[in-house]
Amino acid sequence: MKSLINIMDLSVAEIDELISVANDIIKNPLKYREACKYKTLATLFFEPSTRTRLSFESAMIELGGSVLGFSEASSSSAAKGESVGDTVKVVGGYADIIAMRHPKEGAPLVASLKSDVPIINAGDGGHFHPTQTLTDLLTIKSEKGSLDNLTIGFCGDLKYGRTVHSLIAAMSRYKNINLVLISPKELMLPDYVKEEYIKGSEMSVYETASLEEAMPKLDVLYMTRIQRERFKNLDDYERLKDSYILTLDKLNSAKEDMIILHPLPRVNEISTAVDEDKRAAYFRQARNGKFIRMALILKLLNEKEGSPKVLQNYNNAVILDKACKNHNCITTTEQEIKNAFYKNADEDFYRCAYCDNKLED
Ligand code: CP
Repeated sequence: MKSLINIMDLSVAEIDELISVANDIIKNPLKYREACKYKTLATLFFEPSTRTRLSFESAMIELGGSVLGFSEASSSSAAKGESVGDTVKVVGGYADIIAMRHPKEGAPLVASLKSDVPIINAGDGGHFHPTQTLTDLLTIKSEKGSLDNLTIGFCGDLKYGRTVHSLIAAMSRYKNINLVLISPKELMLPDYVKEEYIKGSEMSVYETASLEEAMPKLDVLYMTRIQRERFKNLDDYERLKDSYILTLDKLNSAKEDMIILHPLPRVNEISTAVDEDKRAAYFRQARNGKFIRMALILKLLNEKEGSPKVLQNYNNAVILDKACKNHNCITTTEQEIKNAFYKNADEDFYRCAYCDNKLED
């Protein structure tokens, strides 16, 4: 049984194969119409979603399988206090594979430790979103022809933007990648993403607060929403929410063949006038989500063994009589899970094995 918790659970060769299968599904959909006959996908969404949940459900239906699940925690027994571990243990008796979204970081890892069926992380708090990354990679490959030799600008909420964290991790394994990180200082990329995926990679990194300055250099502009739901203090959100608004005027200095991606939903960070520009690829990107998720479901259901690589940190962790202080970590709500921490070779402090945040004294 194999789960997908972090995009790094997949090798580059496996990602290439998923992209290739997704492209074959696009060309020959009828070939796959019964590929998952008699199989069931459960979508357990403890947090809102349009694209991820519906594309997973559409993917399973187009593979000839069935779908069950819930779209909000309040309509599940989580509202009565049931743990993530118990929920997946039970749902594994009704479904062959589970796609799960949860507001707490590390929840899918906890689920994968308890589950008898594969768990797919469909987004955990502000941490990771590996299936959005598969969607992004399929889109970049389709639109630009390669995943190498790219200058990619990530703009907006790089702190809480889980799609940004996962895509940066994925890009660390491709050749000649230049990252341009465009954010206000309050919403810069978390240190665990820099430590785990940028440091030690061959990627170059340039940080700036100016989208205008970055624009002419970019092959891909990855816009993001400022994530209101992750802010502890809503005054901070109000101050930062209009930091970047992409308009047609601002695109005047962009390359003619640049593409604009956005995981969506958008609020106001891309003017709707930009939708008509040929460089706007975000609706094509959303559509690709269904095909790559079809490929992923097929892969995970056909795999007999394997475990997520992200478990390495968990398996090498030490158990300490200390608690993670990240208020968005799954350890703050899930009962009876180990307080597990790991250390990177060049760091003299511990990180939480569930959310990767530094352990504060
Ligand atoms: N991109 C994405 O995760 O969208 P949803 O929140 O609508 O699933």
